[in-house]
Amino acid sequence: MAAAKTGRGIPLSTLSTKFLHTNSTSHTGPFSAIAEIIDNAYDPDVNAKQIWIDKTKIRDMECLTFRDDGNGLSRDLMHQMLSFGFSEKKAVNGKHPIGMYGNGFKSGSMRLGKDAIVLSKSKNDLGSEMWENRASLRDILEHSPFHTEEELLTELHAIESTSGTKIIIWNLRRTSEGNTELDFTTENDIRIPCDDSDPESNSSLRAYCSILYLEPKMQINIQGKKLETHPISESLEYINTTYSYKPNGVKQKIPIIFGDNESKEHYGLMMYHNNRLIKAYHRVGCQLKTKHKISIGVIGVIECNYLTPTHNKQDFDNTDAYRNTIKSVASKLREYSGKRRNKPGDNVPIEEPNDEMTDEDDESEETSGEGASGTKRPRRNCDEGESETDRVLRSFGPARERKLLEAVRSLTQEKQGLTVQIEKLNTKVEQLEGEKASIFEECKQKTAQVTELTEWKEKMQAHCKQ
Ligand SMILES: Nc1ncnc2c1ncn2[C@@H]1O[C@H](COP(=O)(O)OP(=O)(O)OP(=O)(O)O)[C@@H](O)[C@H]1O
Ligand SMILES: [Mg+2]
Repeated sequence: MAAAKTGRGIPLSTLSTKFLHTNSTSHTGPFSAIAEIIDNAYDPDVNAKQIWIDKTKIRDMECLTFRDDGNGLSRDLMHQMLSFGFSEKKAVNGKHPIGMYGNGFKSGSMRLGKDAIVLSKSKNDLGSEMWENRASLRDILEHSPFHTEEELLTELHAIESTSGTKIIIWNLRRTSEGNTELDFTTENDIRIPCDDSDPESNSSLRAYCSILYLEPKMQINIQGKKLETHPISESLEYINTTYSYKPNGVKQKIPIIFGDNESKEHYGLMMYHNNRLIKAYHRVGCQLKTKHKISIGVIGVIECNYLTPTHNKQDFDNTDAYRNTIKSVASKLREYSGKRRNKPGDNVPIEEPNDEMTDEDDESEETSGEGASGTKRPRRNCDEGESETDRVLRSFGPARERKLLEAVRSLTQEKQGLTVQIEKLNTKVEQLEGEKASIFEECKQKTAQVTELTEWKEKMQAHCKQ
């Protein structure tokens, strides 16, 4: 590590500029880097109502810009923003900050491009104060896409709101073919290439931002278009909100929502922290075993504010609290999947019952609590809208329940077989109807021919008589 000499004997440690790149490698993809900059506008100290993310060209240079209408930055805060490790964010009116490490802006912006400039307007401080020092201004003009003070001021005045911040990133990261890593060619979106089998949120910034916050509180605009956001749970089927988990040392139970995703290929746990998505489509428990198919397509949603996100905010610290959470969710997922597997039209194969595993899964710190019986078998949560059949099934013992479930499954299969037969017969009937209509048409034509021939015959007979 480079060292700064202080004239006091032992030199103080300092940072090499290479660290800007090193630090940015914590973001393996550009979307998590963009999320850091969005989070900063969202956080309660800035409290922006809107953020605009756009691609612009400044002097033929492709730039990625982020503009928000938040509280802006004072001169001191601006210095903190560009420094490392300063973060004093606190909850305001129940809104908890996402930022905590004092690093996100640096790692995020430097993951996206090699250069960045921050222009800010705050109610108390004018951004231009920063370059009152002419030497600073000269440096900015030399190293930024702006060549004159007027150009710089025009950019600052483009922040229309009374306060707000604009971040411009240029020298954007490029692919080996020389294109910008971010693809701006799709209207109103910013995309990155990914496998066809991946969820849309891996390739479309618009899709990613739509699930970034459990409860959206700030309007995000991408490439000129407002983002429509809805809580992820709203897009799920067979939704069940009655599951919960109570971690050690946390007063309240944490709700877990389960539901079936529209697209069966993408499933797993969506883990949020202070309203922000940390892990997406994280497969747990039986979802990791190929032979257990009942939980395929199931999405779980949980907000774990008691866990600690890693500094790229893409994972949680692997503590016992994290492992217990996963274990408990896995057991509840299994329970949910078992309940919803016999919903009409659901044809997923039934898992072999495995009571041992169920018991083991239930060794979580505490289960959902309500009606906990003290027995080893996990309490079955019941929907408010639970059907009479479900309730009766639950009242039988596990062996009887299993038999009944098998019977239901074979009846469902039989019903499906019959439905297929009915469809086939209907097709046959349609075909015969068609044939009947064409025979009828032929018959009509023949009758007309007969009438014509009869008339002709009568005319001939009359003619012969004469
Ligand atoms: N758009 C913005 N408007 C006003 N202030 C901002 C903005 N973006 C960043 N800041 C300020 O810069 C500081 C540093 O941001 P940075 O993202 O590096 O760290 P953080 O958000 O505090 O923590 P984390 O590393 O967890 O994200 C923030 O604490 C905030 O005070
Ligand atoms: Mg931050």
